[in-house]
Amino acid sequence: MPLRFNIPSLLAADSPQPLDPARLKKFVDSLPIPRVLRPKRIAKGIPQYEVTMTAFRQKLHRGLPPTYLWGYNHTYPGPTFEAGTGQPISVKWINHLPTRHFLPVDTNIHGADMGAPAVRAVVHLHGGHVPPESDGYPESWFTPGNSATYLYPNNQPAMPLWYHDHALGITRLNVYAGLAGLYLIRDSAENALNLPRGRQEIPLLIQDRAFNTDGSLFYPVSDLPVSPEHPGPWVPESFGNAILVNGMVWPHLAVEPRKYRFRIYNGSNARFYNLSLSSGQPFFVIGSDGGLLETPQGMTQLLVAPAERVDVVVDFTSLRGMNIQFTNDANAPFPGGDPVDEHTSQVMEFRVMRHTSSRDTSILPPFLRPVPRISESSATLLRDLTLVEQADADDNPTGSFLNGMTWDDPVTESPQLGSTEIWRLINLTDDTHPIHLHLVQFQVLDRQPFDEEAYEATSQIVFTGPPLPPEPNEMGWKDTVRANQGAVTRLIARFTDYAGRYVWHCHILEHEDNDMMRPYVVVAP
Ligand code: C2O
Ligand code: CU
Ligand code: CU
Repeated sequence: MPLRFNIPSLLAADSPQPLDPARLKKFVDSLPIPRVLRPKRIAKGIPQYEVTMTAFRQKLHRGLPPTYLWGYNHTYPGPTFEAGTGQPISVKWINHLPTRHFLPVDTNIHGADMGAPAVRAVVHLHGGHVPPESDGYPESWFTPGNSATYLYPNNQPAMPLWYHDHALGITRLNVYAGLAGLYLIRDSAENALNLPRGRQEIPLLIQDRAFNTDGSLFYPVSDLPVSPEHPGPWVPESFGNAILVNGMVWPHLAVEPRKYRFRIYNGSNARFYNLSLSSGQPFFVIGSDGGLLETPQGMTQLLVAPAERVDVVVDFTSLRGMNIQFTNDANAPFPGGDPVDEHTSQVMEFRVMRHTSSRDTSILPPFLRPVPRISESSATLLRDLTLVEQADADDNPTGSFLNGMTWDDPVTESPQLGSTEIWRLINLTDDTHPIHLHLVQFQVLDRQPFDEEAYEATSQIVFTGPPLPPEPNEMGWKDTVRANQGAVTRLIARFTDYAGRYVWHCHILEHEDNDMMRPYVVVAP
């Protein structure tokens, strides 16, 4: 065994100290827009892309030294893909990361044990309708020096997807390190609508982070004593005290007095945002995870859980010369956790200029596209699935499960290819969990309050109130839904086109990494 020298006083002097977010002045940097990636070549009509995962340093705020990050193509967030419906692309994902992880890996978590190399990566296209071998199965990770080439058919309508790391047991750390980027699919029907576009169509990827004074990322570790119940550094949720948009801490964006389209993504590990504009004006919600709604919905508040997307139009026409803050008031954890403070309540600032550079000819159409509801009677199977958190005697969370099972338990969800199913998510925890299914875009049917204690005693659902319809912004296609605390949430999904192995999971990444993820298999008849 090699000798190890510990010199505590020196370590203490050298080790970075957590940064007080008050030291980062708000709205001083302008909002970066991730660059759109070009293919390397076109082979047999299929554009071929190449993306390399690398380590680098990047300025995330004017007052912060450059931050050591991992990202795609030396940038955080990664480059944006622009794809067209029906035009497949292929992407070679190359792992060129260092061989040591710089964030606290917990080797007691599923798939992150000592035997596995510490640095593993695999890319998932979130919201993609893709064959299983290109979906980025959590166990299909590859190590530095290796690559995987995935085919994305883009056989789906215009919608805002994103890609991010999905390696088993360390997804929360890899995404926190910077491994995430955007992927927009466009189609002719959406293009014909004359929505704001070009410089008036802006992606907003919202993520929270915490820093040390030397600019490095701070990721929390458990302060509970090591015991069989708490064997490692895993924490049940990580919340940053600084809010970044497109990789910049509290940026600002100069806007003209005209309409804008914002593609809002929550790319945070665990933080929910309840967004509003300090001007009190509404967002006109035009789309959800899976693309356009049927009609725009005016909403002054937008609750966005991790991995959810909201597509909105905001009209700055009558606000010349005003500075408008984009704010958040969601508790963390949501809904019963700590309230926001003066820092986490701020997301970014819009600075409305006095003049437009050209006339605003874009429109907000009263009708966007038909979104037919899937009829409940078309479902051939109803699945009841519980969400459970495990805690120690002092109520400290030690893990969480879907239907009482771990990642390694045998597959229990195996829908027939081409069939329609209704899933009832029975939330027995104190928190809301964003539940995500790979492969499909589904619809939210309703949420209904129920008696949790009665369920725990008898495994019978006793409803305590009427079912509530989805929020107006949830009436389109979704791939991630808030399974609300105290409610049974129902979704309806059609499992089409591809048979094989996928996953469904909670998109709070700390939960996903600690057993709140299950494989599922679409079975060909
Ligand atoms: Cu956004 Cu399975 O993930
Ligand atoms: Cu996904
Ligand atoms: Cu969860």
